[in-house]
Amino acid sequence: MGSDLTEAPTEPPSDFRDDVLAKLARADWHRYPDRSQTVVLEKIASCYGISPDSILLTRGCTEALRVSFTAAAAEGFRLLLPAPSYFGFSLIAESLAAPHTFYSGADTVAVLRSAADVTPDSTLVICSPDNPTGEVRQNAEIETLAHLHRGGCIVDLTYDHFAQDPLHPHLADLLEAPVTACLSLSKCFGVAGARLGLLFGPPSALERYRHLVDPFPADYFQLAVLDSLFDDEWKSVREDLVHRVQRDRALVASLVPGILPGARLRELNGNFVSFHYPDDVQPDLIKELLRRTASKHFRHLSLVRLTVNGMTLSGLRAMKRK
Ligand SMILES: Cc1ncc(COP(=O)(O)O)c(C=O)c1O
Repeated sequence: MGSDLTEAPTEPPSDFRDDVLAKLARADWHRYPDRSQTVVLEKIASCYGISPDSILLTRGCTEALRVSFTAAAAEGFRLLLPAPSYFGFSLIAESLAAPHTFYSGADTVAVLRSAADVTPDSTLVICSPDNPTGEVRQNAEIETLAHLHRGGCIVDLTYDHFAQDPLHPHLADLLEAPVTACLSLSKCFGVAGARLGLLFGPPSALERYRHLVDPFPADYFQLAVLDSLFDDEWKSVREDLVHRVQRDRALVASLVPGILPGARLRELNGNFVSFHYPDDVQPDLIKELLRRTASKHFRHLSLVRLTVNGMTLSGLRAMKRK
């Protein structure tokens, strides 16, 4: 398992996987999949309370970001990327040679409003909940910010299903503003191996982006996973995968203060627990924590991000016992 990739700790249960495999066994392997995935898109749309033409299937959230960054750059908008935030944003922008600069992810709407006066020909990228800080933006904030930038907002909702006050139940409202939203199914539903992502946006925008994705957006395996995942029959599996992480997240968070007195926990909204450690922390304690847990150290921020999984829980418990 990747020790610092914020991967899902478990995968869907075996009866779910059997259901997917049975669909795969019935597929016509020698034939191309349909270009338009009406049934699957309708199922996903009904889960998120939006219309099927507001969704594009993508290869992970990474492709959804790549498509929306490409479109913004092609329309002449500079990408404003949050920092600190997901390292993938700048890698994707660089790989596309898309003009980009950074803003502080901790900035308030007021600060961002004056920045927008300086660079109105831009697209603001928001990660909510942010990786690694766990910070979230509210719907109203995103709508305001989207209107301040001529290129609107791209919102990465990868960790949203884990949030205490998630945005996805209000997706239809959010899409009324000039917003596109990207979602990874890797983390929340434990299917990173199927490389599934969703790009949400107003139908007129998605129509323009369609040529940027493969004409066959998903293979038979991906389609079978999507078909089961978003079926009402498996709703409890989706909910359970998220609840288990939230429950273990609370356990991880409860163990940190006893091990690192003075640690300042960030908001708990992802499948990780991030905290700042005090300046006078013993360096060996941080070293041991990093060795025993699935974690990433952001030294310049005095911040550690612990991925919620069995390795982190048992590492923390062992440290507490000492
Ligand atoms: C904020 C954020 N967006 C996107 C991704 C990539 O998601 P995917 O695996 O669906 O490509 C990650 C992966 O860590 C992430 O943290």
